[in-house]
Amino acid sequence: MFLGLDYGTSAVKALLVDGEQNVIASESVHLSVSRPKPGHSEQNPADWWDATLEAVEALKRSHPAQLAAVSGIGLSGQMHGAVLLGANGAVLRPAILWNDVRSVAECAEFESAMPDSRSVTGNIAMPGFTAPKLLWVRKHEPDIFAATRTVLLPKAWIRFQLSGDMIEEMSDAAGTLWLDVGRRDWSDAALAATGLDRSHMPSLVEGSAPAGRLKPELAARWGMTTPPVIAGGAGDNAAGAIGLGAIRPGDAFVSLGTSGVLFACTDRFRPYPDAAVHAFCHAVPGSWHQMGVTLSAASSLAWWAGVAGQKEAALLDEIRLPLKPAEALFLPYLGGERTPHNDGAVRGAFAGLSYDTDRPALTQAVLEGVAFSMRDCLDALRASGTQIDSASVIGGGSRSRSWIAIIASALDLPLKRLEAGETGGAFGAARLARLAVTGESPDIICTPPNTVEIVAPDPGLAAQYNERLARYRALHRNAGDALR
Ligand code: XUL
Repeated sequence: MFLGLDYGTSAVKALLVDGEQNVIASESVHLSVSRPKPGHSEQNPADWWDATLEAVEALKRSHPAQLAAVSGIGLSGQMHGAVLLGANGAVLRPAILWNDVRSVAECAEFESAMPDSRSVTGNIAMPGFTAPKLLWVRKHEPDIFAATRTVLLPKAWIRFQLSGDMIEEMSDAAGTLWLDVGRRDWSDAALAATGLDRSHMPSLVEGSAPAGRLKPELAARWGMTTPPVIAGGAGDNAAGAIGLGAIRPGDAFVSLGTSGVLFACTDRFRPYPDAAVHAFCHAVPGSWHQMGVTLSAASSLAWWAGVAGQKEAALLDEIRLPLKPAEALFLPYLGGERTPHNDGAVRGAFAGLSYDTDRPALTQAVLEGVAFSMRDCLDALRASGTQIDSASVIGGGSRSRSWIAIIASALDLPLKRLEAGETGGAFGAARLARLAVTGESPDIICTPPNTVEIVAPDPGLAAQYNERLARYRALHRNAGDALR
C-alpha cells in the first residue's frame, strides 16, 4: 500500500493506492492563501502540517488496516515556495508562494549578478521562482535573511516534518533557479548570486529514489509497525505527469489547477527562455520537461464565482450550449502572468461588454480567457521546437466538460479526459513511493489511466477562437499602462 500526499495551493490531498494501482481512499483538507499586500501570496507551513495530520487521521478512521500497511509515502508539492528555516530548524516567516510577484526588481538583480543564469538554470528569472524571493527578503527583511540557515520548498519542509531529513528532488529543485538543470546539481554561481551557498540547500535525490523514512513516533501514531520509506517525490506538475504516465518525449497535458500549465516531456534539457518557457528536470532519472504556465486558471473562475456570489459549479451549469464565443473578452492576469509575458505587474481585464452581457457570458469569457492564455503557452512551446499533437487534461478544472471543449477548440488540439484526472498529483506521488520502495521501472508503472473521452476541437469554433485570440492578444498589447 502506498500513500500519496499532494500539497496544492487550495488543498492538501492524501491518497491510498494499493499494489494493483487502485485508489483505495482519498481525503482532502482545504487551505487558504493570505494576500497581505497587493502581489503578495503566503501560507503558513504549520497549516500544511495541520492539514496533513487531519487528512491522514481521517484515512486512519476510515481505512485503518490499509493505512497500517503503507510501505511508501510520496510527496507532490506546489512548486517554488520559499520556506526559510533558522538554526534550530524553526520557520522564520510565512512561506512566500509560487504566485507571489513581489520580487520583480530582484529578478533583474539576480540576472545581472549571474549573466549566464538563463542557460544554466534553463529559465528566465521570474518572481514566482525561489531565488528572487530570497533577494527580496535580503533587501526588505535583512534580519530574517541573516538568520536563514536553510531554504526548503513546501514539500521538502513536509518531508522534514515527516522524517527529520532535509532532502529535495530534481523536478522541484529545478524551479528554484539554484539548480544547474542540465547537470542535475546545485549551481554554486546561482546560489552566490543570491548570497547563499550549498550549506543552505537540502541534499538532492531523484524523485523516484528513497529519501528518508517516516519518524517512528508518526508511524506508531498512524498504526504502522514498520516506518514507511519516503520517496523523493515531485513538484506538483511533474507528479501529475507521473500520475498520468507522461514520461516519454512528446507526452503532454494541460493542468487546470489554481495555475494553468501546459506540460510537455522533452527528449533532453531544452531551455527556451525567450518566451518564458519553463525547462525543468522530470521526476524520473535522465528526463526533462517544458512547461508554459499561466498564473490564474481555476483561480480565475474561483475569483469570478466570489464576485458573482455563486458557486463555481452553478456558474458552469449556466454556460450556453452549443458553444459560440462570448462577446466579452477576459484577460486572466489577476496576479500577473508568466508564459509568455513574464510580467508580474500586469493585471486582468474584462473588455467588450455591452447591455446584453450577462452572467453566463462573463463566466464563458473567463473560461475562454484562460483557454487563450493556454494557447499562448502552446505557441511558446511550439516556438521552442516542441511538437504537441494532443494532450490530456488534469486538475480540478478538468471536471468541467464545457471548459475542456473550449480549451480543445482554442488550442485546436484533441484533449483527453481521464478517469480520476483531478487526483493527478497525489496519484503520481503514490507511484513515486512505489518506485522508491520496489525499484521497478517507471516504464512499467507509469501507464496512462483510462481515457473517459477524447474531446476533439470543433472546426467552426476553432476558427472563431482564432479570430478572438487575435483580439485577446491585441487587448493585452494595446491596453498598456491601463493594465499595470
Ligand atoms: C509551476 C507553478 C505552479 C505551481 C502550482 O511553475 O508555479 O503550477 O506548481 O502549485
